[in-house]
This record gives sequence, C-alpha cells and structure tokens, in this order.
Amino acid sequence: MSETTEATVRKICEDFGNDRMRLMDIARAVQAEFGCVCGEAMDAIAKALKVHRVEVEGVVTFYAFLSEEPKGKIVIRVCNDIIDVMKGSEQVAEALKDELGVAMGETTDDGLFTLEETPCMGMCDQAPAILVNDVVVTYVGPDQAREMVRKLKADPDPTKLIGRVGDGNNADERINAMVHNNIRKAGEVILDGYADGEGLKKALAMTPAEVIRDVKTARLRGRGGAGFPTGMKWEFTRAAGGKKRYVLCNADEGEPGTFKDRVLLTERADMLFEGMTIAGYAIGAEEGIVYLRAEYMYLLKFLDDILAKRREKNLLGENVCGKQGFNFDIRIQIGAGAYVCGEETALISSCEGLRGDPKNRPPFPAQKGFQESPTVVNNVETFCCVPRILEKGPGWFAQMGSQGSPGTKLLSISGDCHKPGVFEVPFGISVKEMLKLCGAEEPAAVQIGGASGQMIGPDEFERTICYDDLPTGGSVMVFGPQRNILKVVDRFMDFFIEESCGYCTPCRVGNVLLKERLDRIIEGKGEPSDLEYLKDLGETVKISSRCGLGQTSPNPILTTLEKFRSKYEELVQEAPDGTQRNFDLADAVSDAQTIAGRQSVHL
Ligand SMILES: Cc1cc2nc3c(=O)[nH]c(=O)nc-3n(C[C@H](O)[C@H](O)[C@H](O)COP(=O)(O)O)c2cc1C
Ligand code: SF4
Repeated sequence: MSETTEATVRKICEDFGNDRMRLMDIARAVQAEFGCVCGEAMDAIAKALKVHRVEVEGVVTFYAFLSEEPKGKIVIRVCNDIIDVMKGSEQVAEALKDELGVAMGETTDDGLFTLEETPCMGMCDQAPAILVNDVVVTYVGPDQAREMVRKLKADPDPTKLIGRVGDGNNADERINAMVHNNIRKAGEVILDGYADGEGLKKALAMTPAEVIRDVKTARLRGRGGAGFPTGMKWEFTRAAGGKKRYVLCNADEGEPGTFKDRVLLTERADMLFEGMTIAGYAIGAEEGIVYLRAEYMYLLKFLDDILAKRREKNLLGENVCGKQGFNFDIRIQIGAGAYVCGEETALISSCEGLRGDPKNRPPFPAQKGFQESPTVVNNVETFCCVPRILEKGPGWFAQMGSQGSPGTKLLSISGDCHKPGVFEVPFGISVKEMLKLCGAEEPAAVQIGGASGQMIGPDEFERTICYDDLPTGGSVMVFGPQRNILKVVDRFMDFFIEESCGYCTPCRVGNVLLKERLDRIIEGKGEPSDLEYLKDLGETVKISSRCGLGQTSPNPILTTLEKFRSKYEELVQEAPDGTQRNFDLADAVSDAQTIAGRQSVHL
C-alpha cells in the first residue's frame, strides 16, 4: 500500500475518532474510497484502531456489502426473493448478464460493473427491483435493464438513472428516489393523524416511571415480530444497574416480504425519533442508535437532516425541550447486508463494530446490551406508536385491535394481488378481509410473517392477524393457484442457508440437509419416508439452534408439510423393489472410480 493510501485510511479512521466501535462505518468508507477493503487497508485499519488484523478481516468477510476483493465501480444487485422472481427478476438478471457479458458474481473486464444477486431489498411491492450502488431502481423489466446498462456505460453515475421519483417524501431532494410508498390504507395510530411533538411534551411533564406505566397500560407489544410487551422491556432496562443505558431502533427490515418500516422511515421519521426520545427519557438513556439496513442507504441524508433539525429545535441534545438534566441524541448506524443483524443481539454486535454474530442469552439486552450496558431494542413501528400513546392516552390505544393485541398493525402485502403495498389495519383483522383489501382474487396460499413465518391455505382464511393467532412483523405474501408451493419453500430455504451466520451446526448444516431432501422431492425422486425425515430434522434444527434464525428457518417446510401435505405426497412414491429411489449408484461410486482410475463395468 502506498503511503498516500495508508494516509487516507488513517484519516478515515481519525474521522471516526479511531473508535473500534465504528469499524463498520470505517470499512464502508474505505470501500467507498478504494472499491474494496483489501488486505493492506485492513492492516492500516487494524493499526489505527489498535485491534488485531483478524478482527478487521472478520468484519469485512462477514457482510455481503463489504468486500476484500476489488469490485466494479458500479455494483448492480438484483433482488432474488420469491416475490421478485414471481414478478420477473430472473429475466431481468438474464438481460443484465447478456448486456454486461458476465455471469452472476463477476466483474466486467474494464472493471466498471459487478453483477450480483441480493436477498429481499424491501421493495416487494414494486418488484422487480435492483440496487445500482445505493440507487434503488424499481419495476424493472429486461428491456429497461439493458437500457440502464447502456446509459451507465455512457455516464457511469447511477444517480442519473433516477427518472420519475416516487410519491410523498420519496420526491424530497434529500431522498430523490424512484421508490413508491404504496400506502393503501392509513390507520388511526400511525399513518393518519399525528400531532408532531405533543407526545414528547406530555412525556416530559411526567416522571419516567409514569411514562413506562402509560406504555404498559396501553399494552403495547413489539411490532418486530415477537410481540414482547414494550413497557415491561423498558421497565427491566431502567431497573438494570450501570451508569449508561442505550436505545436502539431496529430498522434492519430484512425479513422477506417486509417493507413497512421503509415507509415509516420515509413518512414518519419525526414520529420515530420522538418515540426513541421518549424511550430515552423513560429508561434514562442519553444515546440512541438507528440501525438502518444498507439497502435503505438512499434514506440516510434525509434522516440525518431531520436529526439535525431536531437538534436545532432542541428536540434532541442537551436539556431536551428545556427539561433540565435530560440529554439525548440519536445517530444512524448503517448496516452492510446481513439479515441476521435484525436479530437484536446480532444487531448489537454489529453496532459495536463486530461481525453480526448473535450473542448468548441470558443476559438479555435489557440487562447487558450495547457496550455491556442495559439496552432497549425496539422496532421502528413500535417506537412510532409511543408518541401517539402519550398524546392520546393509553386507553385510546388499548381499545383498538384485539384483546391480546391492542392497536393497529402495519402490513406489507405483496405477491399475487392487485394492490401490493402498506396497510395499517386494526389487529384482529381476518385474513379474508385482508385479502379483500389488497385485491387478491384467487389466493391459494398466504405466507404470514415472512420466510420464517407460516403458510396457510384457504381453509384458514377466517383466522386473524394478531399475536394470539397469526403473528407477523408485517410480512404477508400472497400466492395464486399458478404458483408451485414447494418451489416457494425451496426459495425460503435458500435464503436461510445464505443468511445463517454459521455459528451453530444445526442451523449451518441442518438447513442444507433440509433443502437437499426437499430438492429430491421436487425432482420427483423422493420417498414417503422423506416426509418424516423433513419433520424430524426440521424440529431438531428448531430446538437446537442458538438464535431465532435457526429456530424459525424450518418453518416453511414444517408448516407446508402440515397444511399442504398433498403437494409433497403427490411427488413421493415407494420404490417398487424395496431399493432407495433417491440412491444414485453411479454418483455414489464416482469418487472411488476417480481414485482407482478405472470405470466399473457394472454401471
Ligand atoms: C433472524 C432475525 C431477524 C430479525 N429481523 C428483525 C428486523 O428486521 N426488524 C425487527 O424489528 N425485528 C427483527 N427481529 C426481531 C428482533 O430480534 C427483536 O425481537 C425486535 O427488534 C424487538 O423489537 P420489538 O419488541 O419492538 O418488536 C429479528 C429476529 C430474528 C431472529
Ligand atoms: S441459529 Fe443460525 S444464525 Fe443463529 S447463531 Fe446459529 S448459525 Fe447463527
């Protein structure tokens, strides 16, 4: 590495205070400067931060958006989630491969383009979508993809691709994105009215304990999927020892089919920051961090600007709103393309500048989280509910929705329906009503709760969306009769295999074995005993995995085995002569033949 390059890396590290915790930001900045974080850059980072080189390498190699190998000046990422595939992303990928003359994962000879696939970008309502560096291009077709490459060859500035901008704040020059909000139904709590600042004002007139009491009385439950009572989480965090406490907002939104936080970050950023500030006051924190997924980088400038404006108005900073002794500020931490970082302990690791490995629990983040201090981690939507609860009173909130799930829920609905988008509905809405709202004419199956959720068929459409029946962090994917359910499941398994952090064997290996057996069935080589195998192995992976990713990854197989069993049964059959149908003798002896250097005469 030349002296000037080393000086540049040193300067980047200095800009982040040579703080080891900011390793993610440093690596991203180095990559932006040099196109990758090469070995020498890693050495320079390690030297500046006074950490071992292997720690830097561990981070760079963990995240999909970081690379130690040089990539093209322009990285085109094609979203390959199931909804995008249904809407034609494979044809878009083929067109791009052809136009660029490279395969997936390759870089063009002139070093201008790298072509990659990426899992759910949070744009299922406007699929197919691609990312061109940080620029999101939606509703792409093969011809448009080819045209885009031609334009980039003539002018390699991806921002020039932005033609017609989307609705609402997407058109704001700080965002300037082709993304659409697709808000189809505004509900009372979040998307309808909002008296900016009222909730915070009311909270600061109360004691922190009273604020927590109101959140508990409203019976607010976490909107990220698990539904843990928010007030209780805040109470545990406040009660935990230690001098510092932290408020972390989970804006990772990586669950396939989920995109409602994207809309909240675009249209309700003040509401989110207000909710986080109230949480800071309630638990006694001075610092908040929004963990923003890398795919939403296009929102960063806008969000940073809103934070700056809030500081100017003393809605953040010292003695917030004149409340003596209450100091609170928020910063944004950009992720780097890892679904597992949505898991709260992995998110904390990532905020600490580490690989996004989940941590052992207990201790829970409320006891020991960010920097070993008590930490509240909540979803974007959860924080957005808080100012409204304070503004309108907990009774107002608690009377909406269902008994065990008060309030409204934002659903991100996509797939085979006429109106994909975001719907704010009261908890307790039936699947049938929901399908009517989104214009799903012939739904044959609905996946609720993302890839890690469950698939239900028409005989269960009377069931309701709520924590006591069908819980979801927001993802709802609709599949019409033309879809092959097992191929959908297969795609979900690909996702989990790709996104497993690899720490524990059941998840790292078990998901691969599950997929292999599923593939055999799809290829028509399965036997009835394979169904039992899938069930047993799926349950083993669930109970023996360390974090929520492995604990839920077999769900697509297990729920379809239960509810769409005939789809499996029609593909499997007993071998007539008692042999194993899926045993391939030629394949089994091929290694031995290679070693022996001769072919079997019996094959
Ligand atoms: C693999 C995995 C990914 C997750 N992704 C997200 C996510 O993107 N956003 C989110 O809010 N919660 C996600 N969660 C749930 C979080 O771990 C955590 O429960 C949530 O952020 C808590 O906030 P809440 O109580 O407000 O829901 C994920 C969990 C797992 C296991
Ligand atoms: S369950 Fe999977 S993602 Fe979670 S820690 Fe184990 S290997 Fe990592």
